[in-house]
Amino acid sequence: MKTFISTFILIFIFFMFVFFIGFGPNNDSKSIPFDHEQEGLNKQIVINFSHVVAENTPKGQAAERFAKLVAEKTNGKVKVEVFPNGVLYAEGEEVNALIRGEIQMIAPAYSNMTELLPEWLILDLPYIFKDDEHVKAVLNGEIGDSLLGELKKHNIKGIAFWSNGFKQMTSNRGPLRAPADFLGQRFRIMPSKALEDQFRELGVKTNAMPFNQVYRNLEGGYLDGGENTISNIYSKRFYKVQKYMTISNHGYLGYSVMMNQEFWDSLPKDIQKKISEAMDETTDWLYTESQKINDQQLNLIKTTSDIQIHVLSDKERENWIDFFQPLYEEYGEKYGKRWINEIQKLSN
Ligand code: LMR
Repeated sequence: MKTFISTFILIFIFFMFVFFIGFGPNNDSKSIPFDHEQEGLNKQIVINFSHVVAENTPKGQAAERFAKLVAEKTNGKVKVEVFPNGVLYAEGEEVNALIRGEIQMIAPAYSNMTELLPEWLILDLPYIFKDDEHVKAVLNGEIGDSLLGELKKHNIKGIAFWSNGFKQMTSNRGPLRAPADFLGQRFRIMPSKALEDQFRELGVKTNAMPFNQVYRNLEGGYLDGGENTISNIYSKRFYKVQKYMTISNHGYLGYSVMMNQEFWDSLPKDIQKKISEAMDETTDWLYTESQKINDQQLNLIKTTSDIQIHVLSDKERENWIDFFQPLYEEYGEKYGKRWINEIQKLSN
């Protein structure tokens, strides 16, 4: 009997011990020691910034620079986490992800915003911008500010317009010197009615395809060509699967840099101010940097590939401009001539 009682007591003590080790109170707080650094990290504000291009492009470089400036200006309190190359969201998915608050920041080409804001279509009209100075005066001035202000109704905070550069035409079917050279081809476009109409005038069938699918479709012969900036043609290696390129500078590729409105509103005022400063510095820097990157990469394309490059002469450029005039009438009637006139006034 004695042996039975002592065995029972031993078993009872063993189970009580196991219970307190395994399920006892404060078990969690014991295993995670208090740590001041860890407390600081919890307070860090993280801005997830998604974009679709490579790091060696104007937007890729600007995103990195902005992240660095924000970290410096806020002493590490705000961390901008950049996700390039569409690793988080493809073009076309980014805007909805931003509105839903799944990410805090994006910078898509403004053509991608035209479905939401049809007034922005005029930015895609061919030859609406004369040169880089004109682009800067429009997008970095009052017109840019009021276009960005329109985003608020979609729960989006418009922060800035970033530059990439003028778009060039590429094709596999033949040199593109005159509008008639385009007839019957199939081109990839960004999703914008104005781009669709530009190519409709040229007799080109269009396919609004996400950026990251273009190379494959050019290589496979499903597409004959497209329009893009030198930096995108270079970084995505489109020039390796295209035989002809025309330096036409017919359209501009700029980005609308945006944050989720609720996220922005939740930031303390001093943090908003620092982020705005970092953004202004990045935007200014990018205007010259993007031109440099496009020039350098055009040289690389010339020296490392067999693509035939044609630069439009002044006469040819005039022909293209005249050719697209009916679009100005059409868009003036549909969306009001006001913006077109305002933009054209700034070209001198
Ligand atoms: C494109 O789709 O061609 C561009 O919008 C990609 C980019 O973000 O520069």
